[in-house]
Amino acid sequence: MSQHLTVVDHPLVQHKLTLMRDKDKSTNHFRQLLKEISHLLAYEVTRDLPMTTRSIETPLVEMDAPVIAGKKMALVSILRAGNGLLDGVHDLIPSARVGFVGLYRDEETLKPVQYYCKLPTALEDRLTIVVDPMLATGNSSVAAIDLVKEKGAKNIRFLCLLAAPEGVARMKEAHPDVPIVTASLDERLNEKGYILPGLGDAGDRMFGTK
Ligand code: URA
Repeated sequence: MSQHLTVVDHPLVQHKLTLMRDKDKSTNHFRQLLKEISHLLAYEVTRDLPMTTRSIETPLVEMDAPVIAGKKMALVSILRAGNGLLDGVHDLIPSARVGFVGLYRDEETLKPVQYYCKLPTALEDRLTIVVDPMLATGNSSVAAIDLVKEKGAKNIRFLCLLAAPEGVARMKEAHPDVPIVTASLDERLNEKGYILPGLGDAGDRMFGTK
């Protein structure tokens, strides 16, 4: 991917995102929409993957048919909201190895605190897609990518639903080699680190907590 930031402006993505932003959308419908958008974003984030061919036999002839090159991909979800995006991406890339990074945001400092990390092996040979719906301050995303790099990952992409300019800038400074794919670049963060206009707390909205 050549661009640092890709905003997926496909009409289906944009329409579904508008439905998700609506504060009256039910938890169930919010999760359903997130899954549908995840499929579309997974399509975009994998659009330029290197290809090779494999010899197969159709019922009629032999052919060299296109397949994705390289080792199975890795998906890394930043808990807990990342799991909402993970589900849909995993649907499209079912052979991917899946890792989880648990980080919570200290509400005072807005800094990430790690409480869990389980990552696939051989990350140096895999395209690693880190997923979190909200790129807000960028602190959690930067910390999660620090961890996957420590474990050897070299080819990393970051997939989110919404990004704030502050988070994009922070990622560009810390991880300029990691392209970001998002459905929207929103306006800014508020004083509590929430994205505006945003959609609220993604974890709460997908799991029905407060
Ligand atoms: N995390 C969220 O869930 N929402 C925001 O707006 C920012 C961070």
